[in-house]
Amino acid sequence: GLNSRLIARESTAGAPAAGAAQPLHILFGTQTGNAEQVAMDAAASARAIGMAPEVRGLDDIDMAALSAMRHLVIVTSTYGEGEMPDNAQLFWEALSADAAPRLENLKFAVLALGDTGYDGFCQAGKLIDTRLEQLGATRIASRLDCDIDFEDAAAAWLGETLPLAAEKQVPGASAAIAPPAPLRDTAGWSRKNPYASTLAVNRRLSGPGSIKEIRHFEFDLGESGLAYEAGDALGVMPINDPALVNLLITRLGASVETEIDGAPLAALLSSQYEISTPSRDLIAEVERRAGHEELTHVVRNGDKEALDDFLWGRDSLDLLSLLPQGGMSAAEFITLLKPLQHRAYSISSSPTEAGDYVHLTVASVRYHASGRDRGGVCSTFMADRVAEGASAGIFVSQNKAFRVPGNDDAPMIMVGPGTGIAPFRAFLQERRARGAKGRNWLFFGDQRRESDFIYEDELSTMSRDGLLTRLDLAFSRDQDAKIYVQTRMKENGKALFSWLEEGASFYVCGDASRMARDVDAALGEIIAEHGGMSPEQAADYVAKLKRDKRYLRDVY
Ligand code: 2AM
Repeated sequence: GLNSRLIARESTAGAPAAGAAQPLHILFGTQTGNAEQVAMDAAASARAIGMAPEVRGLDDIDMAALSAMRHLVIVTSTYGEGEMPDNAQLFWEALSADAAPRLENLKFAVLALGDTGYDGFCQAGKLIDTRLEQLGATRIASRLDCDIDFEDAAAAWLGETLPLAAEKQVPGASAAIAPPAPLRDTAGWSRKNPYASTLAVNRRLSGPGSIKEIRHFEFDLGESGLAYEAGDALGVMPINDPALVNLLITRLGASVETEIDGAPLAALLSSQYEISTPSRDLIAEVERRAGHEELTHVVRNGDKEALDDFLWGRDSLDLLSLLPQGGMSAAEFITLLKPLQHRAYSISSSPTEAGDYVHLTVASVRYHASGRDRGGVCSTFMADRVAEGASAGIFVSQNKAFRVPGNDDAPMIMVGPGTGIAPFRAFLQERRARGAKGRNWLFFGDQRRESDFIYEDELSTMSRDGLLTRLDLAFSRDQDAKIYVQTRMKENGKALFSWLEEGASFYVCGDASRMARDVDAALGEIIAEHGGMSPEQAADYVAKLKRDKRYLRDVY
């Protein structure tokens, strides 16, 4: 893409002497942009020690190109429960195939990003690392597996690994490595240093008859200098539910005055630690002490599904309550928790229209279990506990791969039911502001038209003004038979295929495990049917769309 070309050009320009700088390939596999960001940081550091780095997405590399490389650093995240990120799937298919080439001339190192909260922690990085070794490549350094809190560990690893990748050792090279600067075009605001933004708008979008509560938020960027683009995500730092904090304090036999190592317990539980989802350490410790038959059974027999079932609707207070009162001290409890993390939401505005504001479209997660009302940590924080005029910590998380087509004349097909509409509202605003002439087609839906047709006015205006060439709606519960976005896609398969043939980009946002999976299947069927192709040919067509960056997903 554009970024890799920029880096390539910069790298030659910044090299000490023409031809002298040693090439270093840096390949990233990314779903939300973190790994790409780390790859960019790695390139800057490599340049600083006199190497000529070139950054590309993994899927941009075929096996012939890989065979020609001599020094390679791979930075990859893992998607879902142990899968390759979207832009690494074609690479992995080729690398894992029997026909993959021997790579005896390759020296490599893998930096894996992941989340210990999921099964298959860093699985994508582990698979690639192992496979490269199998194919005869040599490790420059052993793989690093990072948890969500990756920044410092990744910077330290790069600081040690990059000089080792340099054939000719540059004197004092490791000292030259600085940890990556905080995110560049985001004015220094980051996960570790969020901007305290005023919430200007907090309003319900879904109608009173809806089972869902979808809300529209507008954060004021004020003097922050924060910049974003349509397609980026916003990180929001939540504060835990005070009701849950108080129940925990009571259960721990502590009080609001209790301090742990000089810090007030209430503050720690409110804003420092994850108290909703029980941590693995807490589960293990409670299991050890509680003598709770079912918990012991599901933990010891290693059945992930049984454990998930047991944990459904249980938070850290429920776990703690399996112990007798006084069964664990507050100090001990704290050591078993994980740090409270930001939540990332696809931004639903374009800066060209929203100006100094950033919009979010978020469903409040609420449910009742075991006698208590419970809710999503950050969605209920924003909905219930940040009043208009109050503030919350935010930062922009760039997703450079998820953008409107670079060509303003290219058609764009968007599939975004429910809150999946968020980035497409931003895309449409962006195209309007640019005066882009390309045709735009949106598939939207949810349960019921009456209560769930969010942004109906805006979408109607866009249709009337011709910005939205086509708007196809799928309300699943307005009739007996379920109608989903992919139903509408198939009904309009002929037109959809011809848009693709005319160069359309195809975007999907929303639920990954059901909707996006079924939309992907529908896409393949449509291409096979209307392109007169076999399933294999259709799969190749889809693979080419991915390689050409015309099939892009923001799914969760
Ligand atoms: P349902 O709950 O009525 O079955 C947003 O949640 C919308 O996605 C709802 O209309 C929901 O329908 C629908 N949905 C559920 N499963 C889906 C799937 N596999 N593919 C597409 N949409 C789905």
